[in-house]
Amino acid sequence: MTERFLLLYGLEFMLTFLLAIVWGLTGLAANGLKYAAFRRWRRAARFGCRAGVVLVLLWCAAVAATWYSLGWEFVMDRIAVMLPLLALPAMLVVRTALPRLRGTAELTPESAAHAAASIHTMTVGALLVLYLLLLDIPSVPDARESVAYLAALAAAAILLRLYHRRRAGIIRLRGQGIRTFALRTAGWTLSAAVLLAAWHLWSLDRSKFPASMPMIHPETFEYGGGAVFPPADMPGDREIHGHHGHHAAAAADGSAVVSVTELTGPRTGEPDRRFTLVAQKKRIELPTGHTVEAWTFNGRVPGPELVVREGDLVEVELINKDIDAGVTVHWHGVDVPNAEDGVPGVTQNAVMPGESHTYRFVVHETGSHWYHSHQTASIQVVKGLFGAFVILPRDEPDRAGADLTVFSHDWETPDGPRTALHLAEPGDRRIIRPGTEVRLRLVNSASLTKTFSLHGASFRVAAIDGWDIRGPEETEGIGLKIGGGGRYDVTFTMPDHPVALALHGEEGGVSAAVMFSRDGTGTADIGPVAAMLDPLEYGAPAPAPAPFGENIEFDREFLMVLDQIYFGHYNGRSNALWAINGEVFPHTPTYAVEEGDLVKVRIVNRSLVYHPMHLHGHHVFVLSRNGKPYRGSPLMLDTVLVEPGEIWELAFRADNPGVWMDHCHVLEHAAWGMAMHLTYANVTTPYLAGEATGNHPE
Ligand code: C2O
Ligand code: CU
Repeated sequence: MTERFLLLYGLEFMLTFLLAIVWGLTGLAANGLKYAAFRRWRRAARFGCRAGVVLVLLWCAAVAATWYSLGWEFVMDRIAVMLPLLALPAMLVVRTALPRLRGTAELTPESAAHAAASIHTMTVGALLVLYLLLLDIPSVPDARESVAYLAALAAAAILLRLYHRRRAGIIRLRGQGIRTFALRTAGWTLSAAVLLAAWHLWSLDRSKFPASMPMIHPETFEYGGGAVFPPADMPGDREIHGHHGHHAAAAADGSAVVSVTELTGPRTGEPDRRFTLVAQKKRIELPTGHTVEAWTFNGRVPGPELVVREGDLVEVELINKDIDAGVTVHWHGVDVPNAEDGVPGVTQNAVMPGESHTYRFVVHETGSHWYHSHQTASIQVVKGLFGAFVILPRDEPDRAGADLTVFSHDWETPDGPRTALHLAEPGDRRIIRPGTEVRLRLVNSASLTKTFSLHGASFRVAAIDGWDIRGPEETEGIGLKIGGGGRYDVTFTMPDHPVALALHGEEGGVSAAVMFSRDGTGTADIGPVAAMLDPLEYGAPAPAPAPFGENIEFDREFLMVLDQIYFGHYNGRSNALWAINGEVFPHTPTYAVEEGDLVKVRIVNRSLVYHPMHLHGHHVFVLSRNGKPYRGSPLMLDTVLVEPGEIWELAFRADNPGVWMDHCHVLEHAAWGMAMHLTYANVTTPYLAGEATGNHPE
């Protein structure tokens, strides 16, 4: 799937560039035809038209091939928006320009003008398509968009026709020649450049976020075919700090509006487990030997491993010692009540230096999860503000055998980027007695996808994203591909020789490794990984967990199309952007649901890189990938690694009211647009984000 996708999209890309180049040059030649001195450019223009029309046909063929082999969602905007912009002017060229260029009769200025107008209309169409592809991908087309672009093209066609006719008359009348042609061409080029620069600055400025804004925007609400409800009113200039209790407000349908501040865990009661996390700067030594200025919880990276038990009331006090930008704690993979979710500007204000914030929640699940700051996450997680959050099953007496959490993390070191494997608990836990049952909880806290492998022992993947795999087969020599934010639990029996856990770089080499052995010495051979474990094919088939049985009736179905914008403007800066349904945050869709809804989300990745999509507050059940249902153990994930060209169908039960982020866990992608929200009817948040508020969730 991925290879075919990259090939077809690459082909379409190349053809679009060629179209712009060929029609640009042909446009130049056609422009000269109005001048007596340039009539001999007729052959060049004729050749350009023919080549250009062939390219349009090839482009259509590439789109058709993509449709046929990948599906409608990969071409819908190509067909609805781009195709008419190429096909209609191409027909115009074939009907009006080519016959005039083909003849042997002397080309009159009037017919030259007519040909030039058609050809320039085609040039405009080709440039519009290139613009759409690089700067403003439509993704999910809507009729208004198609009509707007077609109207622009039609207007261009009319104006060009009038312009060229007038010019042809003037040229003949005044006998204008090479000099005029050169001057006018230079003039037009210059005006275009000035216009482009002006547009660039204007668009850059327009992209700036307001100093303070709500994180969800009613105009972006999508209802997925379910009941439509009016957005609960958002804060505007309402008081933000110390906001408490019910406001008298009611939604239009009469039901009470709930603020996220009310959606807390139990506020009273003796906690079963109590922790303190102190966010502080600290120079730390990495396993790679480098020393870096890290941002830490409790002076270490990873932060302390928080181990709790299913059903526990957990209380965590977050204290910010000296992280100037402020911090929060998000419990990644744990479906906590909304107010405990740790997203600044949505569920709380960032905790500033000297301040503290207490999280309290009951854990209703088990497994390997992690916590991290969600304030400027793309900086703070990278800098080290993360740690493990392990929930043991209620009935399991103790952590049995050797139970170790291992993080893979990417660091910026004085020698450039380095990948490290961190054991969550310091001290020499690498000594393991033969015969011991080992559980390695692998967490990828980096943004890049990592491939782990285990050498020297056969193993099972016992859990993914904290979800127990049913009947995991014993396997060997296979790679485990974990996207940013994802977790795999690996179990094995310690043999009497050393075992290596290795991490493979994207180019294939080993980028880090840890050894386990009876006395802490010796090494295991790290061979190549033959294949990757496919989570949809692994484990024993079993019926889907309730309520996701056969023939589920969904209350809402959403489409999430992931695209890249090659040149974009975002909050006053130029960068490549990452789009959902053709938009970047805050214009991305907001999925609006009602409590109890069964929701289906279809994710289509049309960009050239993977996106580990993470929905807060919910686990999603994997229905299918590329149209094929899972064949192994059922899977409930919180971070779904969607590869280029893939389509995943996911389902979840809307059973945790609130306002929830849904974003790519390549945190730079989220920071450059790939973030959106899931919101429940009648839930509102008093918090705001932006420069003036100090809240920056990405
Ligand atoms: Cu682990 Cu919103 O993130
Ligand atoms: Cu991404």
